[in-house]
Amino acid sequence: MTSTSSPEPTKPSQQSLDALAWAEEQMTLLTGLRGDERGALAGQRIVMRGHITKESAVQVRTLRALGAEIAWCASSPVTTDPDIVAVMTCEGVHIPPDAPGEGRAGEQAIQDVLDHFGRGPTLLLDEGGDLLLAAHADDRELPDILGAVEKTGSGMVRLKQRFGADGTKFPVLAVDTSYLKHVVDNSGGAPQSVVECIMRASGTLLAGRTFVVAGFGGVGSGIARRAAGLGCRVIVTEVRPTVALRALVEGFEVMRLADALQVADVVCTATGEQAVTAAHLPHMRSEIMLANAGHFADELPVAALREAAVEVKEVRSGRTRYLLPDGRVITVLGNGDMINLAVGEGNPSEVMDVTFATQIAALRYLLSETGPREPGVFSLPVDYEEELAQRKLDLMGLAVG
Ligand SMILES: NC(=O)c1ccc[n+]([C@@H]2O[C@H](COP(=O)([O-])OP(=O)(O)OC[C@H]3O[C@@H](n4cnc5c(N)ncnc54)[C@H](O)[C@@H]3O)[C@@H](O)[C@H]2O)c1
Repeated sequence: MTSTSSPEPTKPSQQSLDALAWAEEQMTLLTGLRGDERGALAGQRIVMRGHITKESAVQVRTLRALGAEIAWCASSPVTTDPDIVAVMTCEGVHIPPDAPGEGRAGEQAIQDVLDHFGRGPTLLLDEGGDLLLAAHADDRELPDILGAVEKTGSGMVRLKQRFGADGTKFPVLAVDTSYLKHVVDNSGGAPQSVVECIMRASGTLLAGRTFVVAGFGGVGSGIARRAAGLGCRVIVTEVRPTVALRALVEGFEVMRLADALQVADVVCTATGEQAVTAAHLPHMRSEIMLANAGHFADELPVAALREAAVEVKEVRSGRTRYLLPDGRVITVLGNGDMINLAVGEGNPSEVMDVTFATQIAALRYLLSETGPREPGVFSLPVDYEEELAQRKLDLMGLAVG
């Protein structure tokens, strides 16, 4: 019984059906769960928010095969594949349309999915924290809620800022603290696809260029290593002294962001915070190229650039040139959105297989006898991760020990 209706489905193209079938072949953990864990989510009503890609469609098909009902809203129109929306709505998944002109929260679509099931969701699956924050609104009743899973570090930062470590209304599983998710996705797949998309959007040779990475966490350190491998001079900017020292002992130059912007050819942010701001604009050398790998577009001052520019021109797909009144030219790649999704197809499918299977393991843990029942933020127990990693190795025909 649902309280909101889905938009009329359009017919998906054969090309997108083929791409989805190909992703399914790479995502062996998820497709395997459909048999091994059949019924594990029977009766659950899951409201989720995330990028609508072929990989997340494989996750949604898996959740439904395990018995769950799904209502799904997009993280951002920029990271939404309209063909996948068509496929999913044809299969009966409720996806509300994007409301044009909405801010980053997509507030209307979030309220729509939270209202979708008569008594609301039993579980939430979030990516970035907006769904979780909306679920905590004073006037929002969720009588049957058992818990939530948040995929990103950025989402957990926002949740902790708002509610502290234990002020949530229900248990929240933080998947980003999972070692497995962090090494395979943040440090492994994301840096590869980010650097690939910087190369694609810039159309320039990276070897010999000065490449600045803001933030030396899982994603940023992976980008720094790959840029160095391509022959760049790599400079790291950090706010945490211990992490800056780590970058230094790994062989990278460390600098203040304002200084690095004066020598950079390419800057890539991966901080989960507002990193390059309008205050940094006067420090930027002309011909600099800016890209963002972080979850939110506000890591770069795109709105301030648009306001300051005397001319804005998209010179090729994913590459926008801003001419400033003093004659400097600043280039933004992927419009400041997460570059590997704005310009490319995001992480490789087999990487998202591990990330999404970790999320499903977190849902299973929430529902297990030993899972948390009280409000607060929790991590996935190590044995769940080891079991998943073992399954993936088995599927790849690899052994440990
Ligand atoms: N593009 C992708 O496919 C992808 C994949 C995973 C995560 N992410 C996103 O990438 C971002 C980073 O993720 P992570 O796992 O590396 O996080 P992390 O917490 O491991 O690292 C972030 C680092 O940035 C530093 N930092 C914070 N503010 C800074 C500032 N103003 N200047 C310089 N450094 C600053 C922090 O000290 C920290 O070391 C998040 O927004 C995350 O959601 C993107």
